[in-house]
Amino acid sequence: MSSAPTTPAEYWDKYRPAVQERPAADRFDWTGLPGVGPGHEILGTPKTALDLGPAEGENAAFLARSGVEVAAVDFSAVQTERARGFWADVPNLDFIHAEACVFLDQDVRLWDVVYSTWGCVWFTDPDELFPRIARRLAPGGLFAFSHREPIPGQYGAQEMGGKWLEGRETELTVYRWQHTPEQWSDLLKRHGFGDITASVVPNPDPKALGTLLVTAKLPA
Ligand SMILES: C[S@@+](CC[C@H](N)C(=O)[O-])C[C@H]1O[C@@H](n2cnc3c(N)ncnc32)[C@H](O)[C@@H]1O
Repeated sequence: MSSAPTTPAEYWDKYRPAVQERPAADRFDWTGLPGVGPGHEILGTPKTALDLGPAEGENAAFLARSGVEVAAVDFSAVQTERARGFWADVPNLDFIHAEACVFLDQDVRLWDVVYSTWGCVWFTDPDELFPRIARRLAPGGLFAFSHREPIPGQYGAQEMGGKWLEGRETELTVYRWQHTPEQWSDLLKRHGFGDITASVVPNPDPKALGTLLVTAKLPA
């Protein structure tokens, strides 16, 4: 019997099934390439942080171990359970099973930092997500996210191909929203953010795509 996903959350249940042991969490990683790009320092010194789309959760674990109170929200039941198992010994870290927009509508806490590394910001319509993030960031709070550098010309909502994820057995269409640094800046400004930085961290392999890294703040 096929176990093909019928929803985006089920699609993400099949993300990296081979990862059975918890990954290292010795550095905050924006790029997915060990040692490449900046680390946690671009987040400043928050007391609280919200991770949108943590999957295995190593960035959330890294921050929690350094004393930040972290909530990490993922709509994949499998990813959430796996992360809870990996990091059960880390204090101040809560893995929550919820869709990000629904969570942001219902949970009224204000966060010093909201971030997403190749996570739900890449896979959610920014016109739905950004106003909700703006409502749940503390005044002066920082929003930061990364995703793979887009292929030139492939901007806005793009269909994610079926072969990208190991273990997938379906052609369910899942979208990812990718933009140039300038397009992200314009979108963020429209939703009330300022102090925006957006640039590509190059991949050390010149033939491979880099990582687009964006930061923005709410007015204090
Ligand atoms: C490519 S993984 C990124 C994992 C991790 N942040 C990293 O850096 O490796 C994307 C994750 O975002 C989650 N996700 C995507 N859209 C979401 C949404 N709307 N709400 C909550 N989680 C979402 C998926 O379930 C998946 O775990």
